[in-house]
Amino acid sequence: MRPTILVTGGAGYIGSHVTLALRDQDWPVLVVDNLESGQVDLVPDGAEFVNADCGDADRMRALFAKHQVHAVIHLAASTLVPESVADPMKYYLNNTVNTASLIESCIRSNVGMFIYSSTAAVYGTAEGSACVSEEEPPRPLTPYGKSKLMGEEMLADAASAYPFRYIVLRYFNVAGADPAGRSGQPNPDATHLISVACQTAAGARASMEIYGTDYDTPDGTCVRDYVHVSDVADAHTAALEHLMRGAESGVFNCGYGLGHSVLDVIAAARLVSGADICVREASRRPGDVPELVCSAQRIQDKLGWSPKHDQLSTIVRTAYEWESRQRDGKM
Ligand code: UFG
Repeated sequence: MRPTILVTGGAGYIGSHVTLALRDQDWPVLVVDNLESGQVDLVPDGAEFVNADCGDADRMRALFAKHQVHAVIHLAASTLVPESVADPMKYYLNNTVNTASLIESCIRSNVGMFIYSSTAAVYGTAEGSACVSEEEPPRPLTPYGKSKLMGEEMLADAASAYPFRYIVLRYFNVAGADPAGRSGQPNPDATHLISVACQTAAGARASMEIYGTDYDTPDGTCVRDYVHVSDVADAHTAALEHLMRGAESGVFNCGYGLGHSVLDVIAAARLVSGADICVREASRRPGDVPELVCSAQRIQDKLGWSPKHDQLSTIVRTAYEWESRQRDGKM
């Protein structure tokens, strides 16, 4: 019997896919989620669910002892960049303070392995390079990025001081849905491009906007590194196996190193759906950088991560299928 893995945020979009990947490999999983943004029906079958806040130290230490938790995968977080600008303290409390408390709970309970979901937002504008490697000095521009980077820094300090190892995964633009249809992005008011395009294609929105067509990019729209959520989930199981082997801590980009523009995404959504998506050109969205694509070398070399869904059409098709089913369920 494999040891239990505790997943915070396992009732959320990415967390539910991580839990699916762990369950598919027969890891016993304990999901801890306060359901602030998660949904209990996203918790995969076979995972145990506890409605709790990962910043509740007494509760977490009791759970670690009761379930003999071996490693923690920490995804619970607030993740909306504009909201973090409007309400920064929410981000420092939910992300930084709760992560500090959770790390401390782990150390006191002798849980010595930790996988942390971080973000490309820690890079800020990544000036001088469109292809960002982990060596790039982090310069987060928003409270969201800063709140996540502080979590990374605490992990590094904890690992220097205690018997504790960690993996940081810096996600780029996570999108798509479980190819078997078991989970997907749950928010009907999503702001992320692929969700918006697929909700529009599925008829849940009348139209969508392109935020800026005058960037210094090949077609004038912003370029991002879209990564399928099931590949992101597999990066967590690869990170877990790496730590289980006794390997050292590390920071890894989680993206493909492939850039796609906003127009590429809309074209893919039109193709997979057959819908004539109504699109309006709008002004630039504050805070957007023209291009953000990662160097994916380190995660492939050191964690042996080999993506399975790195075609834009696959990402968009799985997202569209999920959004269509959500829409059918409401009609
Ligand atoms: N966009 C549109 N129309 C929309 C939605 C988005 O044109 O309706 C554009 C944006 O302006 C941007 C691109 O599509 O140019 C991607 O935007 P998203 O909102 O999908 O994603 P972001 O790149 O802004 O941010 C996401 C996460 C961050 C993370 C970042 C890493 O929200 O947490 O990816 O690259 F840090």
